[in-house]
Amino acid sequence: MLERLEPQSPDALLALIKLHAADPRGDKIDLGVGVYRTEEGATPVFAAIKDAEQRLIDDQDSKSYLGPEGDMGFVNALMPWIFGEDATMGGRIAGMQTPGGTGAVRLAAALAQKAGMKRLHMGVPSWPNHAQILGDLGLEIAPFDHASADGTADIDAVLGAIRSAGADEGVLLHGCCHNPTGIDYTPEEWAQIADAFEMSGAFPIIDTAYQGLGRGLEEDAAGLRMVLAKVPEAFIAYSCDKNFGMYRDRVGAFYILSDGKETLDRAFSNANALARASWSMPPDHGAAAVRLILRDNALTQMWQDELDAMRARMRQVRDRLAAAGMAGSVDLAPLGRQNGLFSMLPVTKEQVASLREDHAIYMAGSGRINVAGLTMGNIDRFIDAIAEVTG
Ligand code: LMR
Repeated sequence: MLERLEPQSPDALLALIKLHAADPRGDKIDLGVGVYRTEEGATPVFAAIKDAEQRLIDDQDSKSYLGPEGDMGFVNALMPWIFGEDATMGGRIAGMQTPGGTGAVRLAAALAQKAGMKRLHMGVPSWPNHAQILGDLGLEIAPFDHASADGTADIDAVLGAIRSAGADEGVLLHGCCHNPTGIDYTPEEWAQIADAFEMSGAFPIIDTAYQGLGRGLEEDAAGLRMVLAKVPEAFIAYSCDKNFGMYRDRVGAFYILSDGKETLDRAFSNANALARASWSMPPDHGAAAVRLILRDNALTQMWQDELDAMRARMRQVRDRLAAAGMAGSVDLAPLGRQNGLFSMLPVTKEQVASLREDHAIYMAGSGRINVAGLTMGNIDRFIDAIAEVTG
């Protein structure tokens, strides 16, 4: 039977991790997969997480099952950070834990499909796994341009997609720090987006995987909140992979906004059933550590300070790139206006290969770079290599 399966190529981005690890060159630069790196090139465990993990070891008295919704203390503790002071919007929002942001996106798409969603409009380029998840579920994707050539949002295309979406259609947006372009909508653009959702009746699905890595925890949630204030229903997929540095521990959450308690309960009974059939229950450890941080003022402060330092370092890298201006045929100035881990460079696949082979610089074939892979020690070499390869 198994011989009938078509071989699949490994995920290109994840394959890059192994390629980079196998490269013996001492001055190699990893701008591939989206993990934060320090000025020393490390991805350490947050000190706040270490502290919370120690408390878990000391105090956790059972690892008995929790249920498909996972750790509801974690789910609820995150809510004010995402949704603001009125964290449930008067009882209209509820959530559950998922295995990473990917689990949340998968659950959002599967539940939308079960509720009758026919098509999902999605800005491109997007995180490649979005299309893989939707394709795997058989949900039709209607692509629209997210980015203009000048490195800002193609807001007309975004608004056009929302306005053209029918009642049984959704629109998938990134809450902040767009992956892969780094292009955030401005507050004015978010206001237009919120109005467009209100007018069209399209169903918003907002993937928020980088809160706090862009302009700040509150700022990065502002657009999402503007949309939720205007619509009756929405799904929110949330990841703690980056803003708590929990990548391999798979810490995420899925939230539903609904216009009434009865519909919210009904939607959740379906989300629970889908989770049970998919992964039964999410892994506990990372979410429990995040819960401990968010319930302790000193740990919360420690976490925020670490997040602030990450954001400041990425801003320093972006400012330095922007100040370099043109490198060969690549204008680095837009990177200074973009946010988060990622930006796209207008380079060909051949130029990406040459950067890897001749300069030991690793980036996704799409031209996406993870700016956190750059340091004050390697950034000049990177800029020179871009100039050489594209000049
Ligand atoms: C990335 O885009 O690099 C990260 O979100 C990791 C992943 O799972 O693709």
